[in-house]
Amino acid sequence: MTEPPRSEGAGFAGAGPGLKVEPAVTVEGHIAVPGDKSISHRALLIGAVCDGETRVRGFGRSGDTESTLAAVRALGAGVDEGEELTVHGVGMRGLRSAELDCGNAGTLARLVCGLLAYQDGTFRLTGDESLSARPMERIAIPLRRMGANVDTVDGHMPVTITGDALHGIEYTLPVASAQVKSAMLLAGLGARSRTTVIEPAPTRDHTELMLKAAGARVTVRPASVSIDPAESLRLGAVDIPGDFSSAAPFVVAATLLPESRLTIHDVSLNPRRTGLLDVLERMGGRVGIVARRRFGSEPAGDIEIRHAELTATTVEAHEVPLMVDELPLFALLAACARGQSRVRGAGELRHKETDRIAAVIDALRAIGVRARDYEDSFTVQGVPTRPRGGKVDARGDHRIAMLGAIAGVVSREGVQIEGAESVAISFPGFFELLETISR
Ligand code: S3P
Repeated sequence: MTEPPRSEGAGFAGAGPGLKVEPAVTVEGHIAVPGDKSISHRALLIGAVCDGETRVRGFGRSGDTESTLAAVRALGAGVDEGEELTVHGVGMRGLRSAELDCGNAGTLARLVCGLLAYQDGTFRLTGDESLSARPMERIAIPLRRMGANVDTVDGHMPVTITGDALHGIEYTLPVASAQVKSAMLLAGLGARSRTTVIEPAPTRDHTELMLKAAGARVTVRPASVSIDPAESLRLGAVDIPGDFSSAAPFVVAATLLPESRLTIHDVSLNPRRTGLLDVLERMGGRVGIVARRRFGSEPAGDIEIRHAELTATTVEAHEVPLMVDELPLFALLAACARGQSRVRGAGELRHKETDRIAAVIDALRAIGVRARDYEDSFTVQGVPTRPRGGKVDARGDHRIAMLGAIAGVVSREGVQIEGAESVAISFPGFFELLETISR
């Protein structure tokens, strides 16, 4: 990263579809990011089937979590909104029949099916165009084996569920997916016997941690998780740390821009989420963790990032689930590193909010970077200088919009983002925060 930007300081021109992010000289400051989206979904869903009240502190408000808030209310659980949220649980089997619009939220769509499968009621789930194109048989197949009535339309939304008596099964996940694992564990709560999920590689474990905290019997072994049927659950309170996936764009900006010094406070440091930090470290990144502490059962702390020169690396298949939502940002790190980087075993990216392998390759090429995709992998030819810049189509995908924004601040000419507003799916104040740290 030797070439200076053409203009001093970042800028953001225009609102909505055609937002342009200008180059920055450096980023600096102390920031915090919204509460973890994965944990926020789970706090509402699990809180809804608890006995009594669950107080949720640090809830991450976003397009996706608003969908979950509306869903649990439609299912009969009251939620009071204030500085913290209070969920009034209806008990393990108290959810009532409803039509749920899951919006863009894959996590809601998959996880809630687990809870609904054993309720006394009928449920219909729909989603937006992106969610309607994403696979739902991955949860329907194991849930049916447990005795559930789950119908999809050619494997997709709308999904119809009529609750039934479930029995536990042992199931090996065909792909590493925390969403599928979680759906099964939630269904397992209401089954007659123990449910065991065998994972091909470790994935995020927020569901296991929260269910344990709620009093469920969860047995974690190196490659599997089991859950025993539960009579009742009680959470009481959930403290949610900042979302590492929302911190990651700033980690990347601070790494790539000369003289940057950035501290991100109170971020989740669950090791099943922070694979990007491990990969960045072996590329030569300079990231320090300070003030380690716990938010309930979740590890958290402050992240300090400084500018660093990077060398290329290969992300192996077993690392993919630990940084699955950060792979677009890894591609930008790789674009500015010395040498060719590769990501292997990342076929799951093709089933995210958009085909993220195709979207990343298009975005990189659009800003002047050489990159190539294969069926389940991609390569990036790094050049240790600022990428040119250009026009990036977010394809309605929040993670691609954030990739475009960070590409803009580290570029020579800036990046025009089509569909920048999609950041609100996970991080409504993203552009404002980026502007406050850009110099
Ligand atoms: C999530 C799991 C991941 C991730 C998604 C959130 C979760 O999906 O991509 O953004 O909260 O469980 P998969 O585990 O299905 O890959």
